[in-house]
Amino acid sequence: MRPKIIAGNWKMYKTPTESKDLVEGIKAKLTFPLGAAKVIVCPPFTSLALVQSLVSGSAIALGAQNVYFEDEGAYTGEVSPPMLRSVGCSYVILGHSERRQYFGETNELVNKKARKALASGLIPIVCVGETLEQREKNITDQIVTTQVRSVLKDISSGDVERLIIAYEPVWAIGTGKTATPQQAQDVHLLIRKTIGQMYAWATAEKVVIQYGGSVKPENSRDLLSQADIDGALVGGACLKADSFIAIIENAVLTSRK
Ligand code: PGA
Repeated sequence: MRPKIIAGNWKMYKTPTESKDLVEGIKAKLTFPLGAAKVIVCPPFTSLALVQSLVSGSAIALGAQNVYFEDEGAYTGEVSPPMLRSVGCSYVILGHSERRQYFGETNELVNKKARKALASGLIPIVCVGETLEQREKNITDQIVTTQVRSVLKDISSGDVERLIIAYEPVWAIGTGKTATPQQAQDVHLLIRKTIGQMYAWATAEKVVIQYGGSVKPENSRDLLSQADIDGALVGGACLKADSFIAIIENAVLTSRK
């Protein structure tokens, strides 16, 4: 059975001092057994090494929010997969809609980064999702299917089983508007079917598909109860220990035994 995975995307928030406070708060409250659930925190680059020292030996795994597709070189401002591995990252968020919108990231670039991340031993959390305009035009299915097919291009079935897809409708990110559990479930199933067509159904059944977009303690239980929602990528609500923990509790509660 697929584990429920909760990842906190800290975005461009938290200095190292603030990061320490948040992680210590999360650790202090994470006193219950996680069972099959997993927890990942994704702080900004400047806090990764510090947060790693605080989560090492705990149930919390570390992720970054972006990576480049070369090991090293003259790429001013970029960070490479081996660099992320060296500070203890196991995961990396790729193709977040903010990176697509503000930094021009395309499906092709996200695919290149995903392949490199996998080859370097990082697990990518690859984001897909439609804009409000696309949903209103009724082209959500087409957009999401194209994104999934493009970002997974030339990735082996062994690798696809390891990675995480995050379905994040752009209109639900940071807006307080959440997709209804049914709206999210419909797209999650579509993503799984698309992976099934590209690989095999047995492969698709192993892929963890997270939902993201205004996930809060209050809506997380219903979302996480859906058959094809295997976790959450949490923005705003992960910046406070209490709300992040409440979402993790709902992941534990809704984990299939
Ligand atoms: P949000 O962000 O929970 O604040 O909507 C989610 C995300 O962007 O990953």
